[in-house]
Amino acid sequence: MSNAEIGLIGLGTMGAAMALNIADNGFDIAVWNRTTSTTQSFHKDAGDLANRISPTETLKDFVAAIKAPRAIILMVPAGEAVDEQIAALRPLLGADDLIIDAGNANFHDTNRRARDAGDLPYLGIGVSGGEEGARFGPSIMGGGKRAHWDRVSHILHAISAKHKGQPCATWMGEEGAGHFVKAVHNGIEYADMQMISEVYGIMRDGLGMTNPAIAETFTAWDQGPLKSYLIEISAKVAAATDPKTGAPMLDVIVDAAGQKGTGRWTVIEAQHLAAPIPAIEAAVVARNLSSQRAARAAGEDLFGTAPRHMPHESLTLAALESALMAGKVLCYAQGFSMISNASDDFGWALPLPEIAEVWREGCIIRSAMLDDMATALRDDAERNLMMAPKFTTILKETHGSLRQVVAQAALHGLALPALSSGLAYFDAMRTARGTANMIQGQRDFFGAHGFEHIDGATDQNGPWGS
Ligand code: 6PG
Repeated sequence: MSNAEIGLIGLGTMGAAMALNIADNGFDIAVWNRTTSTTQSFHKDAGDLANRISPTETLKDFVAAIKAPRAIILMVPAGEAVDEQIAALRPLLGADDLIIDAGNANFHDTNRRARDAGDLPYLGIGVSGGEEGARFGPSIMGGGKRAHWDRVSHILHAISAKHKGQPCATWMGEEGAGHFVKAVHNGIEYADMQMISEVYGIMRDGLGMTNPAIAETFTAWDQGPLKSYLIEISAKVAAATDPKTGAPMLDVIVDAAGQKGTGRWTVIEAQHLAAPIPAIEAAVVARNLSSQRAARAAGEDLFGTAPRHMPHESLTLAALESALMAGKVLCYAQGFSMISNASDDFGWALPLPEIAEVWREGCIIRSAMLDDMATALRDDAERNLMMAPKFTTILKETHGSLRQVVAQAALHGLALPALSSGLAYFDAMRTARGTANMIQGQRDFFGAHGFEHIDGATDQNGPWGS
């Protein structure tokens, strides 16, 4: 039998959810997993969708179950597993058969795999939205040859999230462009999550608020301009109770954050591109620091607990909301500006407005403000988002609160790495004459590196030797 319109390899959490999504949208799908019992139980649990799913036990049977020219989605862990799967699959495929890596690949790997594939069809697509997104509508960022994307775009559009009926699935460019955009998405995700956790820390340690009060605050914020998936789930996390102990969930979760590496990739790439994304970098650093629990405990023993508690009159919840608003705009502005840098450096015409559009629904960083960002980028994709009128207005209204929050936190010993980096970025970006003249003077002093004079003369040297 070779009836399936598409095949999917890898029935882990994300793969299983995506296979059900594909079947649910009316496409017949063949599935294969390295462990056959996983394939069998997946099929058994598929309910009404089981008749659209062909479970297979060998790779050969899997390939035979798909209509030629085939399209096969890989949902296997990023890294070597993808290379191994491609190597096992290619000999069984025809020259027109398309492999689609839908995992969280490093875009450099996708570039390499696309080049290795030569004329053989290959796509790398970034998929965001976690398990629920994969099942009911993720945001999809495609990379590879446009003609190959067009072959499967009807399926990817059908399974993706929709914003006012418009599919959140878009081709971003050649080779690893889709996985690159997904990496920057994750960088913004790290910064947004970090800023929310910093604000949570102020409510908990600075203002002494209870978990239910924190949950209520996030719920209220989710009705306003901060409306977003991450604020919504933060309210739910703060409201939850531990079934084991009856204590608030947040009080029993160890304060050491995990990471699979996508945020780190973004930061490494930003350094290669010389793209300033300090809030995202601070968020990755904060995750690294969070895992140094023993060192932090030793530091607290040595230096004592910071004062932390703030008098209520020093900070209102409205100021916190505004500060978070400013921080959020700044971390998106950094992410989009990095994408713009990459577009020039990699020779990809990365479509900034479409990227904002594709992130409006389905993905982890979906938020009310992305629609306005899409409009601002349509208007001028080259301009830093903080200079777009809508966001200039927001920043003018909110940066005072961000400053107040950062200052109060500093006075009370509360660390706000992402929010304070966001503020420093804002201040640096509105300072026409900065302080790098001193750095140029120092470089010229010790290394005769030369500098540009304000009268326009280049390759100048100072009178240091005289
Ligand atoms: C998404 C998420 C998803 C996943 C990350 C988690 O967009 O759906 O970003 O890809 O949750 O891999 O990354 P960390 O383990 O690095 O937090």
